[in-house]
Amino acid sequence: MCGIVGYVGFRQALPVLLQGLKRLEYRGYDSAGIVLAENGCLSVEKCVGKIVCLEEAIKGKEYNATSGIAHTRWATHGEPTIVNAHPHLDSKSQIALVHNGIIENYRALKAFLVERGHEFRTDTDTEILVHLIEEYYEGDLTEATRIALTQVEGTYGIVVIASQEPGKIVAARQGSPLVVGHGDNENFVASDMSAILAYTNRADYLKEGEIVTVTADKYEIAAVDKNLLRTPQIEEISWTLDQIEKGGYEHFMLKEIHEQPTTLANAIRGRLNYGEGIPRLNGLNLQYDELRKINRIIITACGTSWHSAMIGEYVIEEMSRVPVEIEYASEFRYRKPIIEPGTLVFVISQSGETADTLAALREAKKMDATVLGICNVVGSSIARETDGGVYIHAGPEIGVASTKAFTSQVMVLCQIALLLARMRHMTAQKGKELIGFLKNIPGQVEQILQIDDQICEIAEQYYNSNNFLYLGRGVNYPTALEGALKLKEISYIHAEGYPAAEMKHGPIALIDENMPAVVIALRDSVYDKVLSNIEEVKARQGRIIAIASEGDTEIAEKVNHVIHIPQTHPMFTPILASIPLQLLAYHIAVLRGCDIDQPRNLAKSVTVE
Ligand code: G6P
Repeated sequence: MCGIVGYVGFRQALPVLLQGLKRLEYRGYDSAGIVLAENGCLSVEKCVGKIVCLEEAIKGKEYNATSGIAHTRWATHGEPTIVNAHPHLDSKSQIALVHNGIIENYRALKAFLVERGHEFRTDTDTEILVHLIEEYYEGDLTEATRIALTQVEGTYGIVVIASQEPGKIVAARQGSPLVVGHGDNENFVASDMSAILAYTNRADYLKEGEIVTVTADKYEIAAVDKNLLRTPQIEEISWTLDQIEKGGYEHFMLKEIHEQPTTLANAIRGRLNYGEGIPRLNGLNLQYDELRKINRIIITACGTSWHSAMIGEYVIEEMSRVPVEIEYASEFRYRKPIIEPGTLVFVISQSGETADTLAALREAKKMDATVLGICNVVGSSIARETDGGVYIHAGPEIGVASTKAFTSQVMVLCQIALLLARMRHMTAQKGKELIGFLKNIPGQVEQILQIDDQICEIAEQYYNSNNFLYLGRGVNYPTALEGALKLKEISYIHAEGYPAAEMKHGPIALIDENMPAVVIALRDSVYDKVLSNIEEVKARQGRIIAIASEGDTEIAEKVNHVIHIPQTHPMFTPILASIPLQLLAYHIAVLRGCDIDQPRNLAKSVTVE
């Protein structure tokens, strides 16, 4: 949420910063700004809207600065206007700051600063910070920033620059990610590596409460409160630039949907021991006897990751018989959850930075729970703070609507379910059989992607609808929720997911000839029940798009459209059933002319509460 990039080195800073902002745009895109330090002063450009508007504003102007900072915003405090766009300046326009996060005690700090004669121009909490730094500035930006931060409550990832100290930027982190990119005679700071990967793959992730002073030839990291220096800890990032570009697809979302045969294969690669019928998930850091002692699991997450958690609940309970509870991270953190010996907590997060999920993790750790993570971004805050976990290895996900991360999370949860089951009652033979099903899934997803044209034709018939209903039962009830969420997020059509039978307790009132219902009707134990639910929709003239099992020819008589998916174990069907739902949402949104990768009001990673 909000993208930050900073540069000091030998290149012209402007193109480096603009390119970085474009790569970060998926994190927030309601306004943007840039500041360059040159000839003892700061030049600022800002715009409302996307980075192209910023480029437009800058066109024709000459800048030779070799240091600067930039920001793309997702508004929290203050509307997205030019005035509220970052960077923010101090009273004398000598210090500029970009910020991601929320300063919670900004009212008290503002009162103090107003009394000291500072004048404020914006509605943001951020502006307070730059004035606070000004208050303590005596020619050393690092020291002034450090002192200011000791007075701040809340979350921040900030980068600061001063006209009197060109060639130096200062950054600090508390609750909002920042990474230093180390180059040769140039250094970078960014809220995520994708912004700077074109220049360096050497990353030093700031830890909570750290402040860094960055110049072209070095960077020095210290703790905000104690000012003790720590030695650099550089990691080489393996994601390539190719992986974070569109690769010929019109949208990141489409590219990511099509990557799923590969990403799903990555989620099982080297993990399925067919001989023993056991998945190997060494990152869990739990011995077999410890796994056997687990008597309850809590899974917490937000958004799409919460939907995968819900699928996990069905699969883990069904296979291993270990009771599972799921909880929105934003609720978990405030409701004094009961954690006893034997309770294992999982947090699921694609980005590994979602503020509520991170807070839930910390809450659970405070209660002495073992907390494991299911994350995509290696080295993210959640990945670092958990006691262990499983990376989904889906590669960078840029489209705001999550697709490949979701299916990979489910793939990992299926393996966890299988592992727990094998630690209990499940035979090796059964384990092998299930591993066989999991291994086939990437190929089956490939098969579903071949019928994209058929899904596009269905989208053409329904893209003008104002409402959609998504119905599923059992393990595919959360699949229906996720299908509805995908449509809502990118097409702005109102869509509701429901357990199919529950429909008659309310949503049925909405059904008429204008209401399409997407029904997941696979040949499983609830197939006949779902067929009855289909009849109920049909009786009210509702139009039905069914996701059905390959070979099911009868269902065609009962519904308007059938999308067939290959057969697998019933517990693994959510992965396959999700693919057509992602494509349907995608095509509908394209036909409605929506901004697929950057839907209005959303952000890829919500790092504020
Ligand atoms: C935001 C994104 C969603 C995502 C959710 C959780 O709302 O728009 O796509 O599912 O955050 O993100 P996480 O990175 O924790 O999985």
